[in-house]
Amino acid sequence: MSQQNLSFECAIVTGGGGGIGRAIAEWLVKQGKDVVLVGRTESKLQQAAREMGASTTYYTLDTGDVKAIPQFVQKVIREHPKVDCLINNAGVQRPLDVHNFDLAKADQEIDINIRGPMHLTINFLPYFKTKKNSLIVNVTSLLGYLPTSVINPVYNGTKAWSHFWTMNLRTQLKGTNIKVIELAPPTVATDLHRERENPDDNKKDNNANTLSMEEYMSFTTKDWIAGKEVIGAGMSQGVVDKWYDLFGEDYEKATSTE
Ligand SMILES: NC(=O)c1ccc[n+]([C@@H]2O[C@H](COP(=O)([O-])OP(=O)(O)OC[C@H]3O[C@@H](n4cnc5c(N)ncnc54)[C@H](OP(=O)(O)O)[C@@H]3O)[C@@H](O)[C@H]2O)c1
Repeated sequence: MSQQNLSFECAIVTGGGGGIGRAIAEWLVKQGKDVVLVGRTESKLQQAAREMGASTTYYTLDTGDVKAIPQFVQKVIREHPKVDCLINNAGVQRPLDVHNFDLAKADQEIDINIRGPMHLTINFLPYFKTKKNSLIVNVTSLLGYLPTSVINPVYNGTKAWSHFWTMNLRTQLKGTNIKVIELAPPTVATDLHRERENPDDNKKDNNANTLSMEEYMSFTTKDWIAGKEVIGAGMSQGVVDKWYDLFGEDYEKATSTE
């Protein structure tokens, strides 16, 4: 197993009360990790933590409320000093039409998908540097590489930002005790599409390309254990591979002298 992909003790998982975040949290508990779930809905977190067992606790936080993050991070560090892994998974997807645009909704989407993960990362960083091995995992998307879901223009942009931010974060942290992983899921059958006209258009019955959570986790955990740094699955794997085939070497060459 590669150094650091699982060499941490305690992970904080944003959006850990449901969907992909919860599935990752459950898997980490099975790997013997302590897990701290974060989300906005206490009832979901409470139930998830109860079902995952004694090594799991939770906090309510809107990760888009970035003013609350410095105090929140200090509280987590105080109450869970073992924390050495941050999984930036919480995210929202909002259909938005430029002909009738809701700027407030778009700003909130940017707060949750971009500013929250960035503020959490920067606030945890000094503490993570004091640990033996730390890990930051950012959940991006296939749509951050190829923005084909045109009804979600802001979402696609936030995920492209997240992809590039994650690359630069990894490069700036090279040679330190902090490893950075990107998960770039394809369509997975979760509640992410709750604001669409048909919120179930990402369920297996309606979309042949959708992965079930079991399928998604099977791809993802295999590559996580193998030590990969950029982890696609199903349809996203080909797109991620194509991107790195085209530009990966150029990026490494251009940034190796910085
Ligand atoms: N499912 C897919 O097809 C797919 C594909 C590519 C990428 N992704 C990415 O995967 C991540 C997880 O999505 P998912 O599919 O699991 O969606 P999901 O089923 O909607 O779950 C998202 C979780 O995040 C929490 N959350 C949302 N906004 C939050 C906030 N402001 N603060 C704290 N928690 C928040 C939600 O709980 P509360 O509402 O209770 O806070 C929920 O538990 C997202 O970043 C998404 O963009 C998903």
